[in-house]
Amino acid sequence: MIDYIHSNKQRFLDELIELLKIPSVSADTKHNEDTARCAEAIKTALLKAGCTHAEICPTKGHPIVYAHKILDPNLPTILTYGHYDVQPPDPLDLWTSGPFEPVVKDDKIYARGACDDKGQVYMHVKALETMLATNNLCCNVKYIIEGEEEVGSSNLGSFLEENKEKLKADIVLVSDTSMISMENPSIETGLRGLAYMEVEVTGPNRDLHSGVYGGAVANPITILAQMISAMHDENNHITIPGFYDSVIELTEAERTDLNKAPFVLDQYKKDLEINEVWGEKNFTTLERTGIRPTLELNGIWGGYTGEGAKTVLPSKAYAKISMRLVPNQKSHETAQLFTKYIEQIAPPYVKVKVTELHGGEPVVTPTNSAAYQAAADAIETTFGKKPIPTRGGGSIPIIALFERILGLKTVLMGFGLDSDNIHSPNEHFGLFNFYKGIETIPVFHKNFSTIKNNH
Ligand code: BES
Ligand code: MN
Ligand code: MN
Repeated sequence: MIDYIHSNKQRFLDELIELLKIPSVSADTKHNEDTARCAEAIKTALLKAGCTHAEICPTKGHPIVYAHKILDPNLPTILTYGHYDVQPPDPLDLWTSGPFEPVVKDDKIYARGACDDKGQVYMHVKALETMLATNNLCCNVKYIIEGEEEVGSSNLGSFLEENKEKLKADIVLVSDTSMISMENPSIETGLRGLAYMEVEVTGPNRDLHSGVYGGAVANPITILAQMISAMHDENNHITIPGFYDSVIELTEAERTDLNKAPFVLDQYKKDLEINEVWGEKNFTTLERTGIRPTLELNGIWGGYTGEGAKTVLPSKAYAKISMRLVPNQKSHETAQLFTKYIEQIAPPYVKVKVTELHGGEPVVTPTNSAAYQAAADAIETTFGKKPIPTRGGGSIPIIALFERILGLKTVLMGFGLDSDNIHSPNEHFGLFNFYKGIETIPVFHKNFSTIKNNH
């Protein structure tokens, strides 16, 4: 298989470049046609790689691509999940090349979606092609590549409900997470949940002249800022009553284990050009991103933000606030606690409106399963090193639903790096990572099928 990958290296990359040119931005309706075109491209790629069936499944939002190749119903089945939609590329002026004009530089490919998640999805497509071309496919394969992950996967749950039979499998395999580094391969064994909120604060019924009314009428931006700053205490603990009630605290032994992962604080600070890290008192950086819940401001706006100056006392101020959740917090319950708290701390000068935008539940994936073992052994084979289990900070809301609706466990075998600038300008994916992924995925298929067949 290595020979096959090697002799087709350039073509694999050229094909990925074509895929990355499609601006499949799910959040932006202007790109609906591009997103649909991208789904078509994924379908075609899966058929070309050797799937015997592929279809575009329409949803209320962007379509889902489903494909499979069934060798023998008695063999194990691996269901691969990924997403072809991408985050909006802005701010555009910070990109050194166009977000949808892929460029290879310093052995990395630069484009929106290069790592999250088109590059990683394409590893699976090329891994399938490689397994089939070299007669190495030893199990059934199914693929769900969706187009709404970056906007909360709100239509995927019903797709799973309606297609339980079709989606029958033994394990879900996902490459949409990162490793510590190529020298320190790792497997994420958990993802945080999410509760995403929008807050609207209304002061006077219209924008006012800030000289005529300022000082006598509460400014909704000031009030919003005060409410926001009341959401963390001096220890950077979140102040929402009940917020931590259901959080599972790790044992000292588990914390010690987690902190054994390679992590150099000075390097981290240097990379981000910050003088100090910040976070909840008495927790390390790895704990703050892996096992602790957080509350982050994602955006705040209101009043005049255009060129020059305008003396205005705005009528409204807004904020987008998301909370990352850990087991056993529940997304909707946390959203309710948040809403209640905002309503409670809002002073009488303003009205507040809180909207729950979307959410997802946290997950922990087992490390004592056949599937984890298959992934760990595959990585050991191709990287020459045992992977370290880590807890990731990101969220993939659909993973909890695979378990709840289909009864399936997931393996998060991602090949990105935290430094790949996902969701940020100059997103990139290492070519080494891309090819390592293509090499490792077939080994996982073989390991998993072997373990399953022996049971
Ligand atoms: N692939 C990421 C999640 C991720 C990134 C997991 C890095 C682990 C390491 C995914 O595409 C993503 O961005 N998810 C969103 C949630 C979604 C509902 C918008 C997130 O984590 O913010
Ligand atoms: Mn992703
Ligand atoms: Mn993402």
